Amino acid sequence: MTKSWRDVNAIYQIYPRSFKDTNSDGVGDLRGIIEKIDYLKGEDKSLGVDAVWLSPIFSSPQIDCGYDISDYRSIDPLFGGMAMFDELLLQAHKRDLKVMLDLVPNHSSDQHTWFKESSSSRDNSKRDYYIWRDAKSDGTPPNNWLSMSGGSAWQWHDKTGQYYLHSFLPSQPDLNWDNPEVRQEIFEIMRFWFEKGVDGFRVDAIWPLSKNFAAGDNPRNPEYYAGDEDYGSYIHQNSKGGPKLCEYLRMMSDVALEYKNKFLVYEFYPDDRFGSRFDQYSAIQKVAPGVSSTFYFEAFQTEWWARKFQEKFNAFGTWYDQLPVASLGNHDQTRIASKFGMAQAKALALMQLSLPGIPAIYYGDELGMLDVDIPQNYKHDNFAGGAGMDARDKYRTPMRWNSDILNNAGFSNSNPWLPIGDNLDWLNVESEQSTDHSFFNLYKKMLALRSEYAALRYGEYSTWQDTSDDIMTFKRNYNDEIFYILINFTDRQINTNIPSRGRVVASTNTTDEYDIENSLTLNAFEAILVKAY
Ligand code: GLC
Repeated sequence: MTKSWRDVNAIYQIYPRSFKDTNSDGVGDLRGIIEKIDYLKGEDKSLGVDAVWLSPIFSSPQIDCGYDISDYRSIDPLFGGMAMFDELLLQAHKRDLKVMLDLVPNHSSDQHTWFKESSSSRDNSKRDYYIWRDAKSDGTPPNNWLSMSGGSAWQWHDKTGQYYLHSFLPSQPDLNWDNPEVRQEIFEIMRFWFEKGVDGFRVDAIWPLSKNFAAGDNPRNPEYYAGDEDYGSYIHQNSKGGPKLCEYLRMMSDVALEYKNKFLVYEFYPDDRFGSRFDQYSAIQKVAPGVSSTFYFEAFQTEWWARKFQEKFNAFGTWYDQLPVASLGNHDQTRIASKFGMAQAKALALMQLSLPGIPAIYYGDELGMLDVDIPQNYKHDNFAGGAGMDARDKYRTPMRWNSDILNNAGFSNSNPWLPIGDNLDWLNVESEQSTDHSFFNLYKKMLALRSEYAALRYGEYSTWQDTSDDIMTFKRNYNDEIFYILINFTDRQINTNIPSRGRVVASTNTTDEYDIENSLTLNAFEAILVKAY
């Protein structure tokens, strides 16, 4: 039986370049994902996750590791082509594992035929597929907008004598969403994959889909100035988050609604300069609750302080029945274990997997993977110098299947595209599967509990005690199923209470289950899940 999205326990993000290489080119491929599919779901020792999201696998010159698409309807030969994708989808669905693809609607590659046509002459029928503007009379760009990958967002195009806009790299020209033909193209691409049986999309970088051209230059940031090329020197109020953003998102969710049981998750980062972060997330979350959601990125953007986490997730908890998506990381962010520490990352994993909705797990976080130092000769990411998005290779390193360094941790039998990193003796799938007290086994247990109990998926979220500086607490309930979650943010033991007796069904410190009265002790950085009775 196919699960509905509200019964999905989590989404697991695979970065295909780094999952498993089967053709010895040092880059992961779809055959590799098929080989490892039982790791995800289907066997007793599987992680037991219900959905995967694959970072882009479409044809691409790979200047931005696939986020620069040259053909949205084909699978890049680097990953194995369409037949291999069909096989992957079949194998996934056999296990009731949902597959989400990564839709990149804001920009294509400059190698896409649309851009080739658009840039061929000013009167080409696809000219308005992209955003072209004349230079100012002194030859400079039409306005001061900056790209997130560094420098001006405008690239001069000699042949047709105009600038085009790129919110990211110059080789990623922005599509013109104000052109209805462009929108139809994207909607048709969505239908193409939905009809193939794909279960949903992670939708890339939605914040620049609507812009406010009429408002012109972005204003200077009065609190900071480090030069005209520095992203932080401006408030990006006109180049993103424009007036039509939610209307465009609604059009995408309407396409999803043409089908049964499809789901979209938008990549959206609120901007502190635009008022309440929660209000900004909410605007996106409420576009089509249950059909589309926004990632909630606060866990890795919040100070390590119980009070702060409590505040952020109490707000998140108000969406408990709208399938919100809590994230601890992705391919653009420092690994959570590198950011906060190992014990802390484990505690956050228990927290995340007790939150409402469909949590998103970044591959390798279930092992406690850390950022890896990248030697100069391995560097791939072209975003260096951008708006906090530089040097992203270090958290995209290969998955560690075993401790065999000669075989590159079981990832590839040739030189991998990025280095494997340290601690291979214990930080790998094989070792962690056979160690009771491992990251892997905590994730596996929590995923099993989420599958078993509706309260953990879409039960109400509430709190039972005053906000504390030291522990974060919340309650989840659905009818008479009640859970209490406690996370100790300190390195000290803490005594505390819960409103009833119960059984500790998961803990970051022990694999044993045990009964408790309503008072209990939490060890340093310990997180526990208590089932009340
Ligand atoms: C998103 C992706 C990031 C990519 C950018 C441009 O933020 O997550 O990896 O570089 O969009 O497509």
